[in-house]
Amino acid sequence: MPEQGSASVGILFVCLGNICRSPTAHGVFQHKINLAGFGHLVSIDSCGTGDWHAGKPPDARASAAAALRGYDLSKLRARQVTARDFDQFDIILAMDESNLEDLQGLAPADYRGQLALLLDFAPGLSGRAVPDPYYGGEHGFDEVLDLVEAASDGLLEVVAREHR
Ligand code: 4NP
Repeated sequence: MPEQGSASVGILFVCLGNICRSPTAHGVFQHKINLAGFGHLVSIDSCGTGDWHAGKPPDARASAAAALRGYDLSKLRARQVTARDFDQFDIILAMDESNLEDLQGLAPADYRGQLALLLDFAPGLSGRAVPDPYYGGEHGFDEVLDLVEAASDGLLEVVAREHR
């Protein structure tokens, strides 16, 4: 795992199915980090705590909502979290408390990275969840994007400040 201030930091976004929230966070943050010129500093991925959708592209509703804001999720494919992720990623961000508890149960005792909620990086939203939009309407996917964009801006500031 790179030390603070070294050339690259690994960031993993995690939800339940890896077809709605975490691929949205992956696509939005990748887009923002590339635009900011920090793409070379960061290695980004996403996964799910469950394996039901492994190998599948993001939910069509998530992809459509993201595309309307200029984010391309088309190349992403779902996968389940693995033990190796704790070796490879310095910052592992869960979408909700249930995802976070699952990750805490999987993390090795000597994991030295940061395991937190994504919205801990969104001003005024620390401790809050990104609600699961899977069983709801289109509005839920827009809400995911609003929350993910807010957190991504906060996370981008951390990367720029601590890992450049
Ligand atoms: P995600 O949403 O965790 O944001 O990808 C879900 C996707 C699928 C299911 C639940 C949540 N599912 O039950 O299949």
